[in-house]
Amino acid sequence: MDKVCIQGEKQLNGTVHISGAKNACMAMLAASLLTEDVCILRNVPDLRDVRFFIQLLETLGVKVEKLSPGEWKLQAANITHEASYDLVRQMRASVCIMGPLVGRLHKVSLPLPGGCVIGNRPIDLHLYGLQKLGCKISMNSGIIHVTADQLRGNSIFLGGRFGSTVTGTANLVMAATLTPGTTIIESAACEPEIVDLCKLLQQMGASIEGIGSPRITIVGQKQLRGFDYTVIGDIIEAGTFLIAGLITNGHLKIDQFCPEHLGALLHILEEIGGKFTIDTHHNSVEIFPCLDQLKPFHTTTLPYPGFPTDLQAQMCVLGLCIPGLSLITERIYPQRFMHVAELQRLGGNIILENSTAILQGPSRFSGADVMASDLRASAALYLAGLVSKGETFVHRVYHLDRGYENFDQKLNQLGASIKRIPDNS
Ligand code: EPZ
Repeated sequence: MDKVCIQGEKQLNGTVHISGAKNACMAMLAASLLTEDVCILRNVPDLRDVRFFIQLLETLGVKVEKLSPGEWKLQAANITHEASYDLVRQMRASVCIMGPLVGRLHKVSLPLPGGCVIGNRPIDLHLYGLQKLGCKISMNSGIIHVTADQLRGNSIFLGGRFGSTVTGTANLVMAATLTPGTTIIESAACEPEIVDLCKLLQQMGASIEGIGSPRITIVGQKQLRGFDYTVIGDIIEAGTFLIAGLITNGHLKIDQFCPEHLGALLHILEEIGGKFTIDTHHNSVEIFPCLDQLKPFHTTTLPYPGFPTDLQAQMCVLGLCIPGLSLITERIYPQRFMHVAELQRLGGNIILENSTAILQGPSRFSGADVMASDLRASAALYLAGLVSKGETFVHRVYHLDRGYENFDQKLNQLGASIKRIPDNS
């Protein structure tokens, strides 16, 4: 197991290319289960979670071939409906196989995903939606069994206590593409990852309207064909680099993603005096040194197009670098604050009040040993390490490798000083 050593107080400058979107890839890889035909997915990031998902598909019988870096060929000619505990327990996104297997085979059996450090993550909305399509749900020894003699299109309200569900929407849309009749999903997720998935499904011959809106209408087809699709750029990775550039007072160009997808973050940056330009034609954002001009902010995480919860931890670091009092309220995962204690270890002046982080800036960060607890918390510890005096050691860095492709390398190319060392502690 590795840890990283980050030499702090280095300004980041230059251009960084964003990788394919992890959270779009999972559902898209699962979409290959909807057809016997050959499917090709491009711009797939080389991440721990992606490798796991491909392994999961192989255990279901999908033939998988890596054509070249980032390009995968998949064919689900003969598949089974049972997923193993060993893989599903390691990655929540495994639930994305439910919808396509129900659509194609009218059955799926998978272990109920376990706990998660970022908070309670039930799948009741996924199961409720499948029941509305005619499925029977049973649970035995921790395994969920979903079966349907016959599927029938229906209206499904998918809004939960915390708003819409992203993978829940993906599952229901995929199941509905092969479900006879018309399915209407109300309070559907509008995330760019869902829009990208729906476009891929349309390429397979699916009939989908209302893409990108909270009301999606799907008319079921008898069968779907294969796809050849290129995944969008990772919005959360782009947002993480944007914040890295701001807190190091650097001049960064971030490209290969769609700037509109980061509307909520760019809106805040505009409000607080950020200096940046957007080039929608070349899919890039350029930021200029402006740290000493930034004003504090108040924001709340919300479903898209609101401020993304997956940037909340990184935004805490920005708040700690800006003079004054900034506030961030977490509405999607109210307990998602594992990074707070570790940022305090680095000197971050944070108070947690229920689900609101009260951030007093400018905090004087100084390097220390800190522990990563989850994917986005580890990114926040990297950012704090970049602006800390001396060396910061981030332990359990495998959390970061789940969702950031070549993160150390990309940061070092921008002028950071990060090295990986075996963690014998
Ligand atoms: C997706 O998770 C992302 N993961 C998460 O990113 C992201 O944080 C989340 O959406 C919200 O944007 C993937 O796409 C693989 P949800 P998902 O269902 O789909 C509650 C990262 O860092 N809920 O939209 O699992 C749930 O508890 C990861 O890359 C129910 O109550 O999230 C949460 O409070 C972390 N019942 C809220 O809804 C359900 O059946 C939103 O969850 C489903 C969800």
